[in-house]
Amino acid sequence: MLERSTDMVVQNLRDFFVAVAPPKKIIGCSALHLYTNRFSEIKSLAVAEGYTRRGIATRLIKRCLAEAKALGIPKVFTLTYVPPIFTKIGFQPSVKELLPQKIWEECRLCPRQNDCQEICLVYCA
Ligand SMILES: CC(C)(COP(=O)(O)OP(=O)(O)OC[C@H]1O[C@@H](n2cnc3c(N)ncnc32)[C@H](O)[C@@H]1OP(=O)(O)O)[C@@H](O)C(=O)NCCC(=O)NCCS
Repeated sequence: MLERSTDMVVQNLRDFFVAVAPPKKIIGCSALHLYTNRFSEIKSLAVAEGYTRRGIATRLIKRCLAEAKALGIPKVFTLTYVPPIFTKIGFQPSVKELLPQKIWEECRLCPRQNDCQEICLVYCA
């Protein structure tokens, strides 16, 4: 997971879906960020310790895919350290060079840009 400033979180707050455990504890999140009417990206996927391996990340990803479908966006990219969560539900290998907006907006500012270990995957609706 990459560090985010509070301002960045606030600016992108409406991208987020959260998983909530009773009574009102946020135990997971994911975000669908739109770049164009054809490209989007699933970002910021995380599930709290103690709640993993129960399918919560999978449900969050599927919620993002449903949102992309509802908006008519055919391609959903992701950059991840844990590819199996995504490949299990139909994501395929891709390259982040197909996401020029991402590179311009974020990768160029990332301290790990020259040592990026994230795997790029894409889901095509
Ligand atoms: C990675 C993470 C989001 C997984 O959340 P989760 O709710 O446990 O994921 P799910 O239960 O939906 O897992 C679905 C499948 O993905 C795979 N998977 C999940 N976590 C995995 C891991 N750490 N390593 C390899 N495969 C993993 C498994 O195949 C799993 O199915 P199984 O439990 O039947 O074997 C969570 O562990 C986490 O927040 N980790 C720290 C943050 C992080 O690494 N985020 C990056 C994700 S891009």
